[in-house]
Amino acid sequence: KKGNYDHFMQKEIHEQPHSLTTTMRGRLRDNDVVLGGLKDHLKTIRHSRRIIFIGCGTSYNAALAARPFMEELSGIPVTLELASDLLDRQGAMYREDTAVFVSQSGETADTLLALEYALENGALCVGITNTVGSTLARKTHCGVHINAGCEIGVASTKAYTSQIVVMVMMALAIGADKISTQSKREAIINALPDLPNKVSEVLKLDNEMKDLAESLIEAQSLFVFGRGYNYATALEGALKVKEVALMHSEGMLAGEMKHGPLALVDETLPIIVIATHDACFSKQQSVIQQLHARNGRLIVMCSKGDASSVCPSGSCRVIEVPQVADCLQPVINIVPLQLNWR
Ligand code: UD1
Ligand code: BG6
Repeated sequence: KKGNYDHFMQKEIHEQPHSLTTTMRGRLRDNDVVLGGLKDHLKTIRHSRRIIFIGCGTSYNAALAARPFMEELSGIPVTLELASDLLDRQGAMYREDTAVFVSQSGETADTLLALEYALENGALCVGITNTVGSTLARKTHCGVHINAGCEIGVASTKAYTSQIVVMVMMALAIGADKISTQSKREAIINALPDLPNKVSEVLKLDNEMKDLAESLIEAQSLFVFGRGYNYATALEGALKVKEVALMHSEGMLAGEMKHGPLALVDETLPIIVIATHDACFSKQQSVIQQLHARNGRLIVMCSKGDASSVCPSGSCRVIEVPQVADCLQPVINIVPLQLNWR
């Protein structure tokens, strides 16, 4: 039932504090992460030569959000594959690989075909899915249910944030015995229980985002620039705009801005720049300056209190979001970009 909401997607967006709580329930204990579905396979995963994430659409974007922290916490090289592209290329896949399949439904045809392919090639196949009893859950060697609750809206929202949180927990579990990242690991484990509250906080931007969406009604196109932990946020934010507002939108790596996209920038093109506080912050500040110099119509997402350092001239529109541990920030930053494009 969609209750007081206009449509299921809206209900699912606002449900995220709850869905994230159920995703983590019973899995965080005494400074440790326990994923029942992976614990017997962690040793094999730790010894694998690489981790390959495979998915389509939003699920692929969730894997893109996971890559930086998965590499950082596990120390294992991580690659990404869009399921159809892996099949088109018959890409390299070996017995020493761990192939992680990400799918809300667990029934996406391309993802299941890629799973068959990985099984034939002898990789350890791990599933991350929202659907108990799905083909993906049954055919993988092991995996984790994201437990976000049934997702009805065609544009995925709460599954995306829960997928990221499951992959954070997975990275913590794989990297549990790594000394060099212990303090970072503890900081993330301590921050996770409060994440649903931070999501409730960012949901209060509902009216502000409605106002922003209305101001963009006449625009032909929208760019979204992100990098580092928030490269995925740019792609997923743009995907939401395409799927829901039916407007042309491109998510791009900010580091690529000067290698082409900058040529399209003028005062008519709205551009969202994700510039929350992390190791890439100063690089994003200089991207903002360059876009500003081209008279870009800037909308900057920044951490609370950073408005004047991302937009000294006061000429851009600013979306301020709560700051959390860097690898959890994509969970917060996507929420405003899910809201109100309809
Ligand atoms: C499991 C129970 C949960 C119970 C908890 C108590 C299920 C579905 N889950 O949760 O109800 O509260 O124990 O400890 O009964 N799997 C795959 N591929 C996938 C996803 C999962 O093979 O894509 C496998 C896992 O390896 C595992 C099983 O399915 O063997 C259940 O996974 P999950 O629900 O994530 O495990 P728990 O969190 O331990
Ligand atoms: C596509 C949907 O068909 O499948 C996307 O349009 C979705 O919204 C993608 O993200 C993958 O779905 P799933 O269920 O495999 O996560």
